[in-house]
Amino acid sequence: MKILVINGSPKGNKSNTYQLTTAFLAGMREGAQETEEKMEVEELQINRLDIHPCLGCFSCWNKTPGTCCIQDDMGEVIGKLLWADVTIWSFPLYYYTVPGALKNLIDRQLPMVLPFMVENETQTGNGSHPSRYDMSGKRTVVISTCGFYTAEGNYDGVYSLFDHEYGRDGYTAIFCGQGELFRVPEVSQRTKEYLNHVKTAGKEYFAGGILSETRDRLEELLYPKEIFETWADMSWGIEKPDGEKESDALLFTRQMAALYRKESFRGKEQVLEMYYTDIDECYQIVMGSEESHVVTDGSLTATTRIETPLSVWRSIAAGEIRGDEALLKQLYRVKGDFQLMLDWDDYFGGAGGGTERESVCRQESGGKMHVPTKETNMNIMLIPWMAFWIFVGINREIGSLVSIGACVLVPLFYYQHKKTVYDVVSAALAAGFSMAALLGADERIVLPLSYLSFGMMWTVSCFNKIPLTAHYSMNAYHGEDALRNPLFVKTNWILTLLWGILYLLTPVWTWFLMGTGVKSYIGAINSVLPILMGIFTVWFQKWYPAKVARGE
Ligand SMILES: Cc1cc2nc3c(=O)[nH]c(=O)nc-3n(C[C@H](O)[C@H](O)[C@H](O)COP(=O)(O)O)c2cc1C
Repeated sequence: MKILVINGSPKGNKSNTYQLTTAFLAGMREGAQETEEKMEVEELQINRLDIHPCLGCFSCWNKTPGTCCIQDDMGEVIGKLLWADVTIWSFPLYYYTVPGALKNLIDRQLPMVLPFMVENETQTGNGSHPSRYDMSGKRTVVISTCGFYTAEGNYDGVYSLFDHEYGRDGYTAIFCGQGELFRVPEVSQRTKEYLNHVKTAGKEYFAGGILSETRDRLEELLYPKEIFETWADMSWGIEKPDGEKESDALLFTRQMAALYRKESFRGKEQVLEMYYTDIDECYQIVMGSEESHVVTDGSLTATTRIETPLSVWRSIAAGEIRGDEALLKQLYRVKGDFQLMLDWDDYFGGAGGGTERESVCRQESGGKMHVPTKETNMNIMLIPWMAFWIFVGINREIGSLVSIGACVLVPLFYYQHKKTVYDVVSAALAAGFSMAALLGADERIVLPLSYLSFGMMWTVSCFNKIPLTAHYSMNAYHGEDALRNPLFVKTNWILTLLWGILYLLTPVWTWFLMGTGVKSYIGAINSVLPILMGIFTVWFQKWYPAKVARGE
């Protein structure tokens, strides 16, 4: 497949739109690799081409049919347009239409058509000129970004132009609002997510057409209107009434505040204090039910205070370093309520604006269903053990059968939940111990051995990159992303080790107590410590990250 990209942005490679186009091409390339189809790409940058405006002399129709009288780069462009199977027009929206230089290029396609007038049913309007060349089978993609919060309603000029040229359903369009965000590192988490969808669109386009699920994603706003507009207005630099320009740190804090998502309001106003240690400036972001605003006189009591060099926080915001990693390295400190940090993504996170679907993506074909992702569940790992410890204690034969039954039924949970290796190992071990009990093995050996195996499973998992508890507690901390958070992993590592040690020790007193008169109370006795440990776990997983954050 031969692909021609015409980058119509005067900014060349620095164009916002070009990022979308590059992502789309990357997707197409992936499609080509998978099908082992050859893909050739030619790119034309409008800012490097010498293309003069059309003189309107019609000499390309009468004096020198098919050849323009102007000697510039347009001859090469026409050659490439005829060569390509797919032409991708990439450009910013300028005054509700294409940039002037690109319009010149479009006008200069006149030699490609014949002077005769015909009705073309696929194109809009009345009257058209037939092509001088065989253009059948060629495909067209139009990719554009604009500066307003949405593409909706702003592209009628562009639609009109391309509808006339290629027919209403004769091309695929991806039009995206908030285009300037693609050059802002602080929101790169969100723009990268969008670019990934564009890449998927490219791959699907290569295979035939963009699927409806991907189109839905492309139609989501990058950020909700109010957030984007406040943010964008401030990005030009705010003038105080007396004309003095506000400090960089204050502007940065205001932009951060603008990203606040009021839907995450937890019923109580919070004050996030940002103290920039390197420049000794302090600002407070008030996070309310309707909006956020910045207080500059430090007059409020902070809910949470972040002490950080401005450069560090900028790097975190730009995604150059992970916030959690920087915290563990003590590049910044957090004082006060640490919960705000745990909920950071909800308050200021990347994937905003997902509910409004107002930007524009138009194309010919349709698509497939969205499959929700499954979560792990610690109960699936615990049920086989609980069944064994409780029921075999009550009645050896019936209890063993009940316990085996519980292990056999475990796979049913996987319809709803994600499986972990610990779920599988637990079901296998508990079934094995139940079988041993059923076959008459000595209870004084089997029960302590089961605790030992349980403890071993927890302890051994500490030698893996991700300890056992992290596989389950990640659900409450933004899923698998939590596994990349070193502080989260370390907290879970400590907890997993403590639980492992508890269960490595449990068989010792279990074996001893089983030889005494309290044998029948062993189940109750062995429940006390885990209950206390559970209470400790709940406390520790909040206390430890907060302690590290305070820099202690
Ligand atoms: C001269 C000019 C005119 C513009 N006109 C519009 C417009 O009519 N509507 C809009 O939403 N954005 C408009 N913009 C904003 C650009 O479309 C937006 O910044 C785009 O993301 C730039 O893309 P690029 O980096 O690919 O050139 C205009 C920008 C310039 C410089």
